[in-house]
Amino acid sequence: MLLIKTRKQLKEHLTSLDEKDSIGLVPTMGALHIGHTALVKRAVQENSVVVVTIFVNPTQFNNPKDLENYPQPLTTDLKILREIADHIIVFAPSVEVMYAENVKSVSYDFDGLDQVMEGAFRDGHFNGVGTIVEALLTLVEPTRAYFGEKDFQQLQIIKKLTEIRNIPVEIIGCPIVREANGLAYSSRNERLSKNIRNEASFIYKTLKAAKQKFGTKSAIKVKDWVTKQFEQHEDLKLEYIEIAQADTLKPMIRKHKNIKYRAFIAVYAEDVRLIDNIALN
Ligand code: PAJ
Repeated sequence: MLLIKTRKQLKEHLTSLDEKDSIGLVPTMGALHIGHTALVKRAVQENSVVVVTIFVNPTQFNNPKDLENYPQPLTTDLKILREIADHIIVFAPSVEVMYAENVKSVSYDFDGLDQVMEGAFRDGHFNGVGTIVEALLTLVEPTRAYFGEKDFQQLQIIKKLTEIRNIPVEIIGCPIVREANGLAYSSRNERLSKNIRNEASFIYKTLKAAKQKFGTKSAIKVKDWVTKQFEQHEDLKLEYIEIAQADTLKPMIRKHKNIKYRAFIAVYAEDVRLIDNIALN
């Protein structure tokens, strides 16, 4: 495994590759779990070269406490990656290196995709994500880049980013990986007490029940029902539940047969913010 900390070193290594090599990029903020490793394994299967980036990007954190508490177990992360494949290149720059040159915080126009849900509740979040992902795509010039449906809105925004910036890369969305009790894996789960981590499985249980109800009920009725379930739960506080079109992320008003819909949710458990989503049809 190759651990690289500077842009120059990474660029040098990438320019030494063969023309025939395909490059798979997996951007992460570290504290790797099975959700991340599923992306890395897929990238290893589909590309001759794999770059995993580990960078806790300060510009996408709207809450300074969340940034401060974000786990950074680099040594464990490297061990996990080494066990997947020993040819993985890990790019783990410092904030100074990553934001040193040519990376300006940009104000993107994501065609409304960033105005709803996470974008509405986390001011500036997707500009921060866009800035760092554009910088990484431009630096690595991958053939394919892998992102999880766990952050479905982020995935759609990154597809839009490559379109508006004309970045020639295939963006590959990968399914959500869940703990045995249904809770979606997240680096933030580590901050939950054992009891609440178990309680948080209620989020996915409620999403699955909402999917059942979506067959016969309107979006408003389903959202009201979900809201009520969380009102009755002592330890979990609902921030939002939304039912939206999967491609445009526009809130559903009337159901159309040929459109794919998803339910999106954000919940506080203790002081930890958790998000999840589910395909409804
Ligand atoms: P991070 O939260 O570390 O996630 C890195 C990638 O792993 C993202 O594409 C995310 O959707 C995916 N992922 C996380 N948990 C998952 C799960 N349970 N199942 C499937 N995929 C999962 O998302 C980010 O970092 C950052 O915003 C980043 C894109 C790296 C930009 O800073």
